[in-house]
Amino acid sequence: MRAIRVHEFGSVDVLRYEEIPLPEPGAGEARVKLEAAGVNYIDIYFRSGQYKGALPFTLGQEGAGVVEAVGPNVAEVKVGNRVAYASVQGSYAECQIAPAWRLVPIPDKVSTQHAAAVMLQGMTAHYLTHSTYPLKPGDVALVHAAAGGVGLLLVQIAKRRGARVIGTVSTKEKAQLARQAGADESILYTQTDFEAEVKRLTNGKGVNVVYDSVGKTTFDKSLNCLRPRGYMVLFGQSSGAVPSLDPQVLNAKGSLFLTRPTLGHYTANRAEMLERANDLFAWIAAGQLDVRIDTTFPLAQAADAHRYMEGRQSKGKVLLIP
Ligand SMILES: NC(=O)c1ccc[n+]([C@@H]2O[C@H](COP(=O)([O-])OP(=O)(O)OC[C@H]3O[C@@H](n4cnc5c(N)ncnc54)[C@H](OP(=O)(O)O)[C@@H]3O)[C@@H](O)[C@H]2O)c1
Repeated sequence: MRAIRVHEFGSVDVLRYEEIPLPEPGAGEARVKLEAAGVNYIDIYFRSGQYKGALPFTLGQEGAGVVEAVGPNVAEVKVGNRVAYASVQGSYAECQIAPAWRLVPIPDKVSTQHAAAVMLQGMTAHYLTHSTYPLKPGDVALVHAAAGGVGLLLVQIAKRRGARVIGTVSTKEKAQLARQAGADESILYTQTDFEAEVKRLTNGKGVNVVYDSVGKTTFDKSLNCLRPRGYMVLFGQSSGAVPSLDPQVLNAKGSLFLTRPTLGHYTANRAEMLERANDLFAWIAAGQLDVRIDTTFPLAQAADAHRYMEGRQSKGKVLLIP
């Protein structure tokens, strides 16, 4: 089978489209014939070496397709089931072995591409809004990169929870998409001082929570946007890593809470993962969650997909099609 492999860390040039042996599922595992693989910012961290995978490896953490083989002791899925999954390394491929407990059956009303599109970014938006800081009506949330893959879903789900949402974006086109997703206000943080604008929009009070996936360029000002006892939820670093922080800063800025969550800890077992994924599937089936598939690339062109995402061009989901 064919896969996108990383033999050394670096720019998009390190991505190799290679023939590798078709893997056989072991106990508790299944082999999925992929119809779509999700492209996520974490793939860029793994390719560049910001996150160190054991070389060589197949890139990708998200996919959907059809179960074509199961190993011993698999009760969760059967051959022929349509399934989707996240947080299993190696989905930029024609087939992938996954632990069966991580495979979520896709309901009939949800397309395989939509399922592939929401497993990682959608379950992230779910846990951020329901568990890390459970939003309630009346809360004000600041969402950075609001027209990104996570961003467009996070805005919609935050609105479902009754929050007022302020989104930051880099372009007018993205601002429009964030507003269409439900953002009450949008700020062009590449042109406007978002800290001053958030203070103005909240009459100086600040927000209850900042969902910050941009990191280096937004972190300090994000802390200043919070009201006392507010929650700083740093969940990514698309602009670069945030330097070390003196905990005293949290005191000085208003007894703030700081957390750096990751999806794996919020889909720690099958029940928790199914609850989040099935909520997303139900909202999609009911027409209540708009999953914006921005663009698809053939699997062999994974490098173009990475250029597109790193170049801040993506607006919603990017998929690779084997
Ligand atoms: N912790 C978790 O569990 C978890 C799970 C999923 C994703 N994440 C994180 O969430 C973030 C979003 O992931 P995603 O896959 O949905 O990607 P994405 O938001 O679709 O793409 C990244 C966005 O970040 C913004 N950005 C700001 N400064 C940037 C810079 N210097 N270079 C590139 N982009 C920059 C851009 O939006 P603008 O052009 O509007 O600025 C860009 O479109 C990533 O940081 C990712 O690591 C974390």
